[in-house]
Formats: sequence, structure tokens, C-alpha cells
Amino acid sequence: MPGPGPEGYDAGPFVPEKADLRRLREAAAGCRGCPLYRDATQTVFGTGEASARVVLVGEQPGDQEDRQGEPFVGPAGGVLKRALAEAGIDPAEAYVTNAVKHFKFERQERGKRRIHKTPGLREISACKPWLASELRLIDPEVVVALGATAGKSLLGPSFRVTQQRGVPLLLPAPDGTGEGDESEGAGALVATIHPSAVLRADAAARAEAYAGLVSDLGVAARLLRG
Ligand code: URA
Repeated sequence: MPGPGPEGYDAGPFVPEKADLRRLREAAAGCRGCPLYRDATQTVFGTGEASARVVLVGEQPGDQEDRQGEPFVGPAGGVLKRALAEAGIDPAEAYVTNAVKHFKFERQERGKRRIHKTPGLREISACKPWLASELRLIDPEVVVALGATAGKSLLGPSFRVTQQRGVPLLLPAPDGTGEGDESEGAGALVATIHPSAVLRADAAARAEAYAGLVSDLGVAARLLRG
């Protein structure tokens, strides 16, 4: 979904051409492509090597990530790391990023607490040029969409994690529009739930939610093993 997003939100003009990951990361620090930069502490760009074989795409940085400047360093990251290990994906082979690079939140309790807000399609669409550039540079064998926001960014707004999780899908070309786009990238995409869904599940449902996450990541691991 590149190009000007709804209401003129668009990171595209901030994305340098022919840049490596380091240069992209530097440029992303100054992104003003949508209003989320105003309240967030900083841009949280992806981490990992350009040689990564698998790219894990989350939703957006959370409170901890916003403070520390790295993706998945908070509680959801703990669940993800454990699930990756159980599924047999080496974190050293993974590049970890988010569909949206700034933390969207609202303040509660007279400003003391920052409560996560799900990014909307306009922010997802606006931020897509950063994700597209990361994917173009890395050209991974497998992309894992962690949750609905990542799925919508990569496959289009009608993506439904409940219907499309845990099976190998074709990864659209990074610059494609996702939905209805005929051009395909070389890699595969596997969708799963967001690790925070495991944390949100009540005690009775948590083990099953976690097992589902590990099982879906296992599909990605098998694709990587060829
Ligand atoms: N949730 C995400 O989707 N990404 C992060 O980086 C942290 C929590």
C-alpha cells in the first residue's frame, strides 16, 4: 500500500532511495509521515541483519519498545522469543520489525498510564513504505505476520488472522498493494496471532493460544528448513 495514504498520511517522501538498513533506520528517526511521531518517544525501526532469512513483522512498538527504541523488548517479546525457540527458529536468523514504527497510545489516569491503541488503516498504509523498503533490502525466504495489523499491512485490509493463519501464503512484492495485487515476491508469508494475544488470554485459554502460536511458527520453521 505505498503512495499517499488516506488523509495525506505517507512516509514515502521520508524513505531514501538506494539506502542500506543503517541509512533507512537513520532516516526513519525523522519520519513525520503521520501524526504518531508527535506523542511517541522515538521511531522504533527493525533490528537484525540484511542477510536474515526470516522477517517477523509485529504491529507497532509498545510502551517498553517506545522507551528503549527496539522492537519486541517488552512482555510480548518475551512470549515471542520463547515461542521462536520452541518452534525451532534461530533468533539470529530473524529480522524483527513492525508494520507501524511509532507507538500509538492514549493517556489515562491523568497522564500517568499510556494505553496501547490499535493503529488504523491510514497509519498502517502511511508506514508501509518503511516495511516495503526493509523487505526489499532483506528479500527474506519467509515473512511471519504477527497479528492482524501486520497481516493487513502485508496482504491488504481484508486480511483475517483467524482464517489465514498457519498456512504458507504467497508474499506479495514489497511494493505491491497487497489485496488484488498480481505481482508476487519470491518469499512465503505465514500469519499467526500476535504474541500479546497469549498474554491477554485468560488462564484457561492461554496454553492453547500459546500452542497455536508455536504451531504457526513451526510452519515458518519448516519452510526455512526447505
Ligand atoms: N508489540 C508489537 O507488535 N511490536 C513490538 O515491538 C512490541 C509489542
